[in-house]
This record gives sequence, C-alpha cells and structure tokens, in this order.
Amino acid sequence: MTQTVPIPHGLPMERDAGPFDPPSGITRLREARPVCPMVFPDGHEGWLVTGYDAVRQLMADTRFSSRQDIGILHVPYETPGMPAATEPSPHVPGLFISMDPPDHTRLRRKLTGAFTVKRMKQLEEQIIDVTERQLDELARLTPPVDLVKEFALPVPSLVICELLGVPYADRETFQVSSAKFMERDVTLEEKMAAFGAIFGYLTELVTSKRAAPDEDILSDLARDDDLTIEELTGIGFLLLLAGHETTANMLGLGTFALLEHPEQLAELRADPDLMPGAVEELMRYLSVADIFFRYATEDIELGGETIPEGSTVVISLLAANHDPERFDDAGSLDIHRKARGHLSFGHGVHQCLGQQLARIEMRAGFSGLLRRFPTLELAIPAGEVKLRTNMNIYGVHELPVTW
Ligand code: HEM
Repeated sequence: MTQTVPIPHGLPMERDAGPFDPPSGITRLREARPVCPMVFPDGHEGWLVTGYDAVRQLMADTRFSSRQDIGILHVPYETPGMPAATEPSPHVPGLFISMDPPDHTRLRRKLTGAFTVKRMKQLEEQIIDVTERQLDELARLTPPVDLVKEFALPVPSLVICELLGVPYADRETFQVSSAKFMERDVTLEEKMAAFGAIFGYLTELVTSKRAAPDEDILSDLARDDDLTIEELTGIGFLLLLAGHETTANMLGLGTFALLEHPEQLAELRADPDLMPGAVEELMRYLSVADIFFRYATEDIELGGETIPEGSTVVISLLAANHDPERFDDAGSLDIHRKARGHLSFGHGVHQCLGQQLARIEMRAGFSGLLRRFPTLELAIPAGEVKLRTNMNIYGVHELPVTW
C-alpha cells in the first residue's frame, strides 16, 4: 500500500465524477490508503475510512463508539453556518443510533419485534396499497411533475406515519423541520430550532399515547413503563427521520439512475422477478446514507494503521460500496450482480433496523412506477437535475418527469 497521498484537509464532497459516483478525491484516497488520517476544517486531526474490508471491520467493532456525547463531532466538510465543535453533543435520551451497548441494546430490543422479517411481510399488502394509491394520484396530474414531491417523499412518509401512529396531516411539522435538520449549510441555531420543533411535536404525541394508547408502534412503546417520555420522544424522532428521509431519497435518486440506464430499465420492466436484486444493486450503487462517524475509545489497529484513542473516525459507505476489491466493475450499475454484502444498511449492532421495511417500500415503489408509467422520462436534461450535495442524505432535490 502506498502512503504517498497527501493527508486530506476536509472531506472531498463535490460529485465531480458524476451524480452516482463517489467524489474523485475519495476514490483516490481509497485506492492509496483506505484507512487514512485526515484534518477537519477546524484543524483537529481524525481518520477517514473508505475501503470495504476496513469499513466492515470497523462497524463490527464496538470499541469504535457511536456516542457523540463522549467524542467531539468535528464537521468534516466546510460548512459556512456550523461553528467548529469544541465540545461533545448533548446526550439525547432514546436516540439509540448514538449509543453503545448496553444502553443501545436495551432500547433496540424494545423494537426488534415490531421490525422482524415476518412482521414486515404481514405489512407488505398495506405498503403496496399505499404505493398504488399514491401512483393513482400521480397519474391524475398533468406532466411534467416533480416525482420527489408527488411520489418519492409521500410513500415512505405515509408508511412510517401509519406504522408509528403519527397523523400524516401533521407532516408539514416534521417534513420541513427534518429537511432543515438534515441540511449541512444551516447555522447551529437553525438546526437546533428544527430539532426542537420535531421534539416538541413528538413529546406531545407520545404523552397523549401514554395516556390513551392506540394500535401503533409508538403506543406499544408507550405502554412500557420502563421507557420515559424523553426516551419515547427520542425513539420516535429516530424512527420518523430514518424512516422517511432515506427511503425517499432512494426512490428519487434510484428512479433517476434507472432512467439514465435505459437498457437495464427495459429489462426490469420486462421481468419483475429481477426487482429484488435490482433494489440491492441500487442500494449499493447509490449509497444515499454515505457518511457516518465513530469515536475510538482505545488505540485500535485497522487496515494496517493504528487509530489512536480519542480519534474521530469518518466512514464513507459509498466509497466502501464502490471498492473494486469487493465488487467487480464497482462503478457500474448492474442489476444482475449479487450486490448483497453491500454496506448501505451499515453492519454490526447498529445495522439498519428498518431494512426489511425499506426493501419492501422500494420494491413496491419501483415496480409500481415502472408498470404504471411505461413511458416515464426526465422532463429536463440529466445535467440539470439538482443533486443533494448539501444534505446529510444524498439524492435529488427534485426530479421533474413526464410520460
Ligand atoms: C433505503 C433506506 C435506508 C437506508 C439507506 C438506511 C441506512 C441505515 C444505516 C447505514 C444505518 C446504520 C447507522 C450506523 O451504523 O451508525 C441505519 C440505522 C438505522 N435505521 Fe436505517 N436506513 C434506511 C431505512 C430505514 C427505515 C425505513 C427505517 C424505519 C424505521 C430505518 C431505521 C433505522 C434505525 C432505527 C437505525 C438505528 C439502528 C441502531 O442504531 O441500532 N432505516 N440505517
């Protein structure tokens, strides 16, 4: 392994290699030094992990902590609004994605029953219904329409609201605030205001569910006296955000990617049995949830390097999923490849709790869209599609389509 690459200052973020490829700076780093020191814009030194094997090993190792209340979350890219972090983020009760075992285990266990493969299979019909109803609404519109607004965002939002027992009519509160919360270039005040708006809303909701539980996941959790109102709110926040931002962007960016690969799109239309494999490949190829953080709680050997205790470690799932050492011709979309083993849902104890749900939504979403709109195409040149390079979850801001 060569060590000749200069240590990066900040994370290369510009999609200079194309809308679906990792930034070329990240690819170069992965090739030269898949576990690499980096300097954050605030001057602090940390590490960047981009190679498939190293990322997988790191995510399986809980000595790399997910707690943001012990490590300082150094922002890895230049963000005009965010001041350099000087102290750890506060602990948020219930937000188990940012906890380590055993606290993480205690909370995640409360939810595993609600998200089993079997439970999700039972929900499949309901999810298909939601999707088809949204496609009916789409079909009533006069093209060109924005597929994000009319399809990609509403489907996962409707599904997660239904599951959690969040009234869909209240979506403005959480869609606008969660979009703000996910934006990179907002001030800390704006971010905290967005967080506060969703938190306030959810605190009221879970308090009313504790008093009068209904038939939904938040009510089931509210029946459990072991959980405080703060914890219920944090869990609700995590599920609501993780449950719609990610899948919505997979549907939006995934449709864009398919439209840009017309031969594979035609094959997929002709043979719906290809859909489950195609969804896995789109997950790998697009890796919309790309950047994650860990914090080294001791000196740890990884990929031939020693990451010192106290380091903030940045992970790029997109880079790992495009690693040619793991996937042949990794930079190409190939719906026939065996893409399972991709890291887009993470790996280890934090591996995505909603992955079966997301798979069902994506299969229903892409299948329905291709079947109902056989002449679907972009309504603007591909180069003009607005990419979410400024957001924590990648995707398209809008996808104007016609049929
Ligand atoms: C295509 C869509 C999705 C993608 C790409 C995705 C990706 C991920 C990734 C990479 C992680 C691991 C984070 C880490 O290790 O720090 C994660 C965790 C999580 N995801 Fe998803 N996710 C998706 C959909 C969903 C949905 C629909 C839900 C609905 C409930 C969900 C709920 C969660 C939760 C609760 C966690 C935290 C798990 C834990 O900490 O134990 N996700 N997701």
